[in-house]
Amino acid sequence: MKRFFSVDDVANLDVLLQEAIHIKKNPLQKSELGKGKTLGLVFLNSSLRTRLSTQKAAQNLGLNTIILNANQEAWTWEFEDGAIMNGGTVEHIKDAAQVLSQYCDIIGIRCFAGLTNKEEDTSEKVFSLFEKYASVPIISLESATLHPLQSLADCITIEEQKPINKKPKVVLTWAPHIKSIPHAVGNSFAQWMNKTDCEFVITHPKGYELDPKFTQNATIEYNQEVALQDADFVYIKNWSSFEKYGKILETEEDWMLTNEKLKVTNNAKIMHCLPVRRNVEVSDEVLDSPNSLIYQQANNRTYAAQIVLQKILESNE
Ligand code: CP
Repeated sequence: MKRFFSVDDVANLDVLLQEAIHIKKNPLQKSELGKGKTLGLVFLNSSLRTRLSTQKAAQNLGLNTIILNANQEAWTWEFEDGAIMNGGTVEHIKDAAQVLSQYCDIIGIRCFAGLTNKEEDTSEKVFSLFEKYASVPIISLESATLHPLQSLADCITIEEQKPINKKPKVVLTWAPHIKSIPHAVGNSFAQWMNKTDCEFVITHPKGYELDPKFTQNATIEYNQEVALQDADFVYIKNWSSFEKYGKILETEEDWMLTNEKLKVTNNAKIMHCLPVRRNVEVSDEVLDSPNSLIYQQANNRTYAAQIVLQKILESNE
C-alpha cells in the first residue's frame, strides 16, 4: 500500500479485515516494524479518536509520532498556486508538504470540507495539493469527501458482530443536527459497504441525497420506518445537503433515532462514528443500550490505523 485515501487503495478488503482482527488479538506482534521511523499527523480540524487511535497504532508498531495542529499552532497555509502572499496566509502548502516530508516517513492529514465551494471540496483540492508536493506516503485522517480509517473500523466492527449464515442488512440513517456537517463519513461508509457482502440501504429526507459517486447501487429509501425494517445494523449520521451544497434543509418528520423506531429492526446493533449530539441525532436510551457498538467502533479505530500503517511500512521496506 502506497497511500490510503479510500477503499480504492485496498487490494483485498476481506483479507484486510481478517488481518486487522488478527492484529487486535496481538497488537504488539510487529512492534519493531516502525523502529527509527516517524509518522507525522497533521490536523487542520479538531479530533479525539483519529488523533489518539492513530498515535496508539503507531506506538504499537514502534513508530515515533509527531503531531501538528496546523489550524492552531502552525503558520496559516496558502493553497493557491502562484498566489501573491501579501494577505493573511504565511506558508504555502507546497513548502509545508515538502518540509514535513523531510521529518516524516509517513504523513497523515485531516482537512474537512469547507462546505462553501463544492468544486474545491469534491475535487479534494487540499489533499491533492498535499500529496503532489509531499515525497512520502500519505494517509487520510478524513478528507473533504471521505473518512477511510473510520469506515475501515466500521467494517471491522460489522465483521466481528454480523449474524452467522445470513447476509446482514445494514441501514445508514440520516439524523438531525444543529450545524452544517460534511458528507465524508456518510460517503465513505456507503463506499465501503458497497464493497462488502450486505444488503445496504440509505435513508434520509428528500434533498439529502449523497454524491451518487459513493452511494452507487445502494437502495435509497426516503421512509425511515420502511428502511429500518429487519435491519441488523443501524448506522446513524448527519450530513448537510449535497445538492444545495452545505445547507440544512427543513424536514417534516422527526428523524432522531429512538428505541421506539428500532422495534421494527432485527434487534439491530447501533453504530455512530462519534462525536455524537446526544438526544439530537439519537436518544440516550439507544446509545447506552446493550446493542450499541459505539465504543467498539472507537476501539477498532486503532486496529484500522495499525493495519494501514503496517501495510505502508511493509511496502516501503
Ligand atoms: N470519528 C472521528 O473521526 O472522531 P474524531 O473526529 O474525534 O477524530
